[in-house]
Amino acid sequence: MLSGDQLSPSLSNVVVVGTGYVGLSSGACFAHLGHRVICVDNDKAKLDAIESGHLPIYEPGLEEIVAEQIGIGNLKLSNDLRKAVSGAEFVFLCLPTPPQSDGSADVSILLSVVETLSNFIPAGVVVINKSTVPVTSSRLVQLLLGDDNPVVANPEFLREGSAVSDFLNPDRIVIGSNDKQAAELVAGLYSRLDAPIVFTDPASAETIKYMANSFLAAKISFVNEVARFSHYVGADANEVLRGLSFDDRIGSQYLSPGPGWGGSCFPKDTKALLASARSIGLELPMVENAIRSNEMHLDFIVETIRKEADSYGNPVIAILGLSFKAMTDDVRESPAVRISENLRDLGYTLRSYDPMANGPDSLSATRVSSVKEALRGAHITVVLTEWPEFAGLNPSTLRPLMVGKTVIDTRYIVDKRRFEGTEFQLLTIG
Ligand code: UGA
Repeated sequence: MLSGDQLSPSLSNVVVVGTGYVGLSSGACFAHLGHRVICVDNDKAKLDAIESGHLPIYEPGLEEIVAEQIGIGNLKLSNDLRKAVSGAEFVFLCLPTPPQSDGSADVSILLSVVETLSNFIPAGVVVINKSTVPVTSSRLVQLLLGDDNPVVANPEFLREGSAVSDFLNPDRIVIGSNDKQAAELVAGLYSRLDAPIVFTDPASAETIKYMANSFLAAKISFVNEVARFSHYVGADANEVLRGLSFDDRIGSQYLSPGPGWGGSCFPKDTKALLASARSIGLELPMVENAIRSNEMHLDFIVETIRKEADSYGNPVIAILGLSFKAMTDDVRESPAVRISENLRDLGYTLRSYDPMANGPDSLSATRVSSVKEALRGAHITVVLTEWPEFAGLNPSTLRPLMVGKTVIDTRYIVDKRRFEGTEFQLLTIG
């Protein structure tokens, strides 16, 4: 983060529409960079909660930065879009684009906000879209706004759980616009950050976002195939991946096998990309198979647990982790939830625990409030989310609690050596 003397007085007047994790994180971080920011949302109750320090999402570091910036007056919250944009130089759109039944992204919320904006936005205010939108959406936004407001596509690359740090330490900033001056102005908002800026056209900027998420999803599908293959041939998946990681062409990031990829972005964006491609008669077999491989991986994990479970007759299974990854309470498209639901449908008794996520209603009956409670009387323990507190599992903590002797670690966070020579069996995929 920036220290006080690196910050200058307010630079630009920025409005951010939408206070989801992208909007609120971006708004708070722009304020942290010195801009005067108003975050707008039509949900008054949500704004009141944020104002009083109760953020709707868990995002490390965000609560502090929001409180600090509200305190010094750089960050304001409002449900009055008209008033907020009356003094704005930049309006960021951070709105949900949920999936429709055919996988395509629903841009109706975004477009209706733009239509509303078009009634009163002062000429010259730059409108920037951060929402993940089908390619060519910027053109639609420009058509709705007319020629008096330049439109810029500026996709976000913020991971849940590290959105603040990703905003302040970006790998790159992508700015797509046909208006060179507007693009430069938007770049100026980020001038305190040290990152390469990719100036491009709007369609390319929108495509970069979809391809980045699809590439990473495909990379993890591949990594999970490495784990499945290693499992069968007696190789150690982590050793294999370590061997790959030193090749700079492969790289060491996004190389951790797990229970499959999930969350609110990869599943939605890969399907939306396929839907876009289909609509123009194009096949994208790599993306299609990344999704297929991920589904196969989930089934493989369930099957692995089932095989172990059946050796116990009528087992109790402790589920550790429900969120789609650590450091977030988000359970959308969470592999941990999907695997748990599958196990429940197979008739097993589950006890699930997550330090942050409540989990969906479908699993609420299985929910307990500590690791200890989950383990008590369990035959099998399955680690599905890489929360640090699960990494400490060891035979001496398990012994007085578990009835069975099997631990399945789908995240490879538990130290195998602790289990060697004990009555417990620690299983991983590969
Ligand atoms: C993802 C992208 O990483 C962000 O750059 C992007 O901005 C964001 O989507 C978005 O479109 O808004 P996020 O969904 O928060 O971010 O999660 P990631 O940290 O990328 O993880 C996605 C999934 O891949 C998780 O299920 C995670 O457990 C899994 N994963 C990730 C692995 O299984 N192995 C890895 O090595 C990395």
